[in-house]
Amino acid sequence: MKITRNMLNGMPSIPNECGTMPRGCSGQFESKHMYFDLLRDNLPEEIVIASRRYLAEQLQATDKLTCDLPDKIDAIGSWIDEKADQVRHQYREYLNERQAGAARRYFSNKSHALYFLKAVAPTKLVDGAWLYGLTRRWNDARFSSLIKIYLEELGEGVPNKNHVTIYKKLLATHGCEQWDNLSDEHFVQGAIQLSLAQHADHFLPEVIGFNLGYEQPPLHLLITAYELNELGIDPTYFTLHFTIDNANTGHAKKSLDGLLDSLPRVNDADEFFRRVIRGYKLNCLGTCTNTVIESFDLNKELIAILGKKSAVGKYVHSDYCRVAGRTINQWLSDPTQIPAFLANLEEKGWIKRDQDPQNSRFWKLLQGEKAEMFGVFNSYEKQVIYDWIAGEPKEFDATQPSDNKFGTAAFGQRRLTFKAQRLLDTLGKCSERVIPSAAARGVIRRHAPRGSTGDDSDDFNIELRTLEEKLTSLTSKEEIMNLLTSLMSPPNHYTEAGLMATRIFTKMVG
Ligand SMILES: [Fe+2]
Repeated sequence: MKITRNMLNGMPSIPNECGTMPRGCSGQFESKHMYFDLLRDNLPEEIVIASRRYLAEQLQATDKLTCDLPDKIDAIGSWIDEKADQVRHQYREYLNERQAGAARRYFSNKSHALYFLKAVAPTKLVDGAWLYGLTRRWNDARFSSLIKIYLEELGEGVPNKNHVTIYKKLLATHGCEQWDNLSDEHFVQGAIQLSLAQHADHFLPEVIGFNLGYEQPPLHLLITAYELNELGIDPTYFTLHFTIDNANTGHAKKSLDGLLDSLPRVNDADEFFRRVIRGYKLNCLGTCTNTVIESFDLNKELIAILGKKSAVGKYVHSDYCRVAGRTINQWLSDPTQIPAFLANLEEKGWIKRDQDPQNSRFWKLLQGEKAEMFGVFNSYEKQVIYDWIAGEPKEFDATQPSDNKFGTAAFGQRRLTFKAQRLLDTLGKCSERVIPSAAARGVIRRHAPRGSTGDDSDDFNIELRTLEEKLTSLTSKEEIMNLLTSLMSPPNHYTEAGLMATRIFTKMVG
C-alpha cells in the first residue's frame, strides 16, 4: 500500500525508498536548528521539550501517509522475508543490466557520488540515534534485541566498526566535511532520529516502529555500494548495512523481535501497534536517496563552488593576468559573472572541455606539486572541476581517470574499483609492516589515538584514565550504567570516552 502521488498535493513527484513523497512537516520548528540543538552536550531542558513538540508535529505529518506494513503483526515476519526476496531479485536485475553494458543507474561520475555522500551526511552521522533512549532500559529483557542493534550501530565500541566513525572517515577522505549548508529538508530525518533518542519513554511504540522501517535493507543500499566501489570510493558503510540488516539473523529480524517482545500483554496491543505504524511512517519524511541523486547538477555545483571561493578570490589575484580584458579579481567580484568567466576561460583556451583535464592550463594551476593554486580547492571541489572539464564518458568509464588521484594516470583508462585498489595497496604494504596481534590490545583501552604513546601520562589517555577512575569509584551498577549510557549518546559515542563506555556497556549487558 504505497503512497500515490495524488494523495499529497504539491509534493515532489519522485517517490522515495518508502514509496512515499519525501517531505517533512513544515510546522513550528526548523529541522536544521533542531538537529544541531540536539547534538549539544548537556541539553538544556527547553531543547528537550522543543524536540518532543517537534516529534509530535512530524508524527502528525505521517497521518496523511499510508504505508506498506501489514495490518496484522503476525504477518510482519513473512512480509520481511518477501521484501528481502524482492530486493534480491531487483538487485539481480540491476547486475544483469550492468553486465549487459548499461550505464550506472545512480551516479554519472565520481563528483555525483560524493555530492550524494555529503547530502545524506546529516542522517548518516546520527546513525542509530533513535534507539539511544532504550539504553537506560538495560535491565529490561524486553529491550535487549533493540539495545543490541544500537550497540552494533556503535560497533560495540570498536572504532573501525562504529558506523558514525566510518562515515566521518569517508567524508574526510574525499573533502566532503562541509555539509552544514544543506537545506532544512536534508536535516528532517536526522532531527527525527535525535528527537526519538530523547523521548523513548514517551514515544516507545514510535521508536520501535521507526526502527522496524529503518532496518529493512533497501535496494538503493546495494546499488549505492556497487557504484561507489566502481568509482573508487570505499563502499564499506553501505555494504556493512546490507550484511547486518539481513532478514534472517540481522537487524531486520531483531527489529521484529524488538516489536514482539515489547507488545503490551495487559494494555491495548492494538493501540500500541497503531502507534508503531505511525513511527514506521516517520521513515518516509525528509529528503530521500532518489531525490538527492536526481538533484545533482554538475554545472550548478561548479558555479556554487567558484562562487564560494570568489569571496576571498576577488582580492588575491594580481592584475597581471587578464581574461577577455578583465582581471581575475574583477571577474570574481561579481559571482553572477562566474558562468561568463568560465565561458571566456574556455574560449581563450584555458579550459579544454571533454578532454583529459591535464590538457587544460586552468587544471594545471590547481593540481600538481608546482600548481600555483595548490590547496585552494579541497578534494571534493577538485573532483567537481575535474569532472566538469572531462565531460560525460563517451562509453562505459572510458574517459574517467584510472585511479583516485587527479590525472596521475593516462586519461581514458578504465578506473580501478575501490576493492581492487585496496588489494593492490595491501599487497604492496604487507611485507613492510607487522600487524599487531589482537590479543595485545586491552578490552577497555582497546586503542590509543594515532600519535599516542600509550603512556597513562599521555594527554590522549588522561580522559580514559579519568573515566576508569570514575567508574571504579561508583558503588552501584545503576550508577555505572548511568555514566556509561551518558557517554553513549549520539554526540558522544564515537569519541574516545564514548567508545570505551560502549565496550564496557557491551560486556556488562552480555
Ligand atoms: Fe548503521
